[in-house]
Amino acid sequence: MKVEFYKHNLGVEEQQKVLECLSGIFLTTGQYVKDFENRFAQYLGLKNVVGLTSCTAALHLSLLALDIGPGDEVITTPMTFIATANAILYVGAKPVFVDVEPQTGLIDPLLIEAAITSRTKAIIPVHLYGQMCDMKAISKIAHKYNLKLIEDCAHCVEGVRDGVRPGQLSDAACYSFYATKNLTCGEGGAVACNDDSLAQRLMTLRQHGMSKSAADRYTGAYQHWDMTELGWKYNMSNIQAALLIPQIDRIEERWQKRDLLYKLYRHHINKISYLNAPKIVDGVKSAYHLFTIKVPADQRDALLGRLNSNDIGCAVNYRAVHLLTFYKDEFGYKLNTFPKAEQFGFETISLPFWIGLAESQVEHVARILNA
Ligand SMILES: Cc1ncc(COP(=O)(O)O)c(C=O)c1O
Repeated sequence: MKVEFYKHNLGVEEQQKVLECLSGIFLTTGQYVKDFENRFAQYLGLKNVVGLTSCTAALHLSLLALDIGPGDEVITTPMTFIATANAILYVGAKPVFVDVEPQTGLIDPLLIEAAITSRTKAIIPVHLYGQMCDMKAISKIAHKYNLKLIEDCAHCVEGVRDGVRPGQLSDAACYSFYATKNLTCGEGGAVACNDDSLAQRLMTLRQHGMSKSAADRYTGAYQHWDMTELGWKYNMSNIQAALLIPQIDRIEERWQKRDLLYKLYRHHINKISYLNAPKIVDGVKSAYHLFTIKVPADQRDALLGRLNSNDIGCAVNYRAVHLLTFYKDEFGYKLNTFPKAEQFGFETISLPFWIGLAESQVEHVARILNA
């Protein structure tokens, strides 16, 4: 039995919306992007969403728009995808890593204050696997030291913690619509925020710093545009937005399915004594983006091989960022610098987890793990 790591769930509604978009004039940023932005903002309960080409772009532009740059330090976690740390480097700032909680893999709020220096300008917590970080604790620290707060919500569209949702206690929340994400258009991203002037600046920055978008320039009589600051080319297209729009109404329904799947996996995994799984703490509604397990470090890679040879797709999310060659070479990081994140990195495996996965497939994965 083959069990894919991920299969998207896009269907007729998405196809129809894309065809409708293709039959119009504007393939680039236009009405579909506006519709998506409005609907997603409504879903999130935030005032603004700015559609982009990726979450990497969302993190990059959020840092730029919040005036973080050369000489500044930004605190984040080493237990994340490289995009989080790379975006900090794109603006010329320095990523300062803080170790994670051993149970959850989330940045440990108790360790943040010790990492703050006179150069620290921002914190980027990452809501790993769908579980939100303790935003109440982190935002208290951000306020105390006057730091900007940018959430990496690539894994966390649906998450809630202690009654708080992404974007409510931060300056900006960054989303990914990459191929395997809970909401997907293959490649895409967005920033959500309550501050209108920040959203306006992000809209300018996503298009080279141009004062008017293509839709603005070509609707009605031609209008001249100006360039007011140096920006990037990160604007979401109408085609990407057309793929995303129908998914918004089904976010909750799809979450329910992943909730059942998560519980089914946990039921089977709990019976296998050598396996462990990150904890979801009280007061959290996880977005359930990835289903990860932890196995003894000296057996992890062999188990990955065994799963693959049984046609079961799996991944590693993630090996700790500071131990990747570039970060080791550039910053001189060594083993045992962030031991909890490193342990996660050596022990974790992500199992197939997507809507449509049959109960028999989950049982099959558990059987192979047990064997
Ligand atoms: C935690 C995290 N942050 C950022 C990103 C970057 O997202 P994108 O691929 O949309 O740039 C990802 C993507 O996998 C991610 O998992």
